[in-house]
Amino acid sequence: MYEKYMKECFELAKKGLGKTSPNPIVGCIVLDKNGNKISEGYHAKYGENHAERDALLKLKNGEEKDGTIIVSLEPCSHFGKTPPCVDLIIERGLKKVVFAMKDVNPLVSSIQKLKDNGIEVIYGILEEEAKELNEVFITNMTEKRPFVALKTATTIDGKISTKTGSSKWITSTEARDKGRELRKIYDAVLTTSSTVIADNPNFNNDLKILIDRTLKVDLKKNFFKTGKIIIVHDKSIKPEKTLGNIEYLPCSVKDNKIDINEVLNILFERKIMSIFVEAGGTFNGSMVETRLVDKIYHFVAPKILGDNSGKSAFDGRNITKINDCINYKVQNVERLEEDILITYKKAAE
Ligand SMILES: NC(=O)c1ccc[n+]([C@@H]2O[C@H](COP(=O)([O-])OP(=O)(O)OC[C@H]3O[C@@H](n4cnc5c(N)ncnc54)[C@H](OP(=O)(O)O)[C@@H]3O)[C@@H](O)[C@H]2O)c1
Repeated sequence: MYEKYMKECFELAKKGLGKTSPNPIVGCIVLDKNGNKISEGYHAKYGENHAERDALLKLKNGEEKDGTIIVSLEPCSHFGKTPPCVDLIIERGLKKVVFAMKDVNPLVSSIQKLKDNGIEVIYGILEEEAKELNEVFITNMTEKRPFVALKTATTIDGKISTKTGSSKWITSTEARDKGRELRKIYDAVLTTSSTVIADNPNFNNDLKILIDRTLKVDLKKNFFKTGKIIIVHDKSIKPEKTLGNIEYLPCSVKDNKIDINEVLNILFERKIMSIFVEAGGTFNGSMVETRLVDKIYHFVAPKILGDNSGKSAFDGRNITKINDCINYKVQNVERLEEDILITYKKAAE
């Protein structure tokens, strides 16, 4: 019976997508003692009320007493930017707490406190969906690194451009709009010198990261026109030019390549919790090789290039056995007007 409401909680939670980092997204519903829905809430933005507080503070006349609160994540029991939700639930006299997944944050442990106060606790409702919803938060907490999503748009034969680099446009306007929408969910977009030089994109995000090992990209490119920019470069090269919105991030280089692991560690220390990679096949290939790409958004256009030397979406591997593939699982398939979007998540190793 709680599944229907839990699904509503997930929809509420999604309203906070892209705005709650480094916090999870959470949705909540309150039922009165007769099981009627009387309030709902969600965590709208980092620093603002948690979902439970948002839903409960809307109730002014005590109608929640002896009622049930349904939440997509275990209510918090510690002081963060806001006081513990568990205390408010106890104070407001709720009888039952239902949540989808336990919080992976070691500071959160509310079950015993709720039970000690005579509140029934039920959890594990649609747990897998809840985990998917908070995949960024779970990766941050358990692996201490940013969640990495990668977007690529290819022809049916997996090419992102012809051998001469012609790529505008493989997919339709609708697919490209969808790509922009997805990019907004993540804390930062990350791309490379080669892609900025070839395509001159803006990648309209608040925070943009450019991998420019030798600092060869002209700062007049569209990329630098908006947002805050971090340029990752070889630490042995000193930047000579800059703009007000640019920060330089010197990093180590191995085999003429920026050390991706080091970059991710530094970004995580700076509370950049999720990254959306939009690059060509060379960088994508290196990125998946690190096994740190958690999710792939693959737009497929119903076109065949049939050009052996056209550029692949993931380059650089030289393997002979199919068992050496890097494995993903299909998470979702969405049909757009002209193209399809397949979302994959990393398979367990
Ligand atoms: N269809 C799509 O979804 C899509 C998206 C983006 C781009 N593109 C296309 O992709 C093309 C560019 O692809 P590309 O393969 O030439 O370039 P890329 O993959 O975007 O970038 C590769 C470059 O990144 C630098 N790099 C630094 N550290 C690296 C590391 N650890 N691993 C790999 N590379 C590293 C190297 O340049 P340095 O030697 O300067 O360090 C390398 O040549 C463009 O034509 C663009 O249109 C397509």
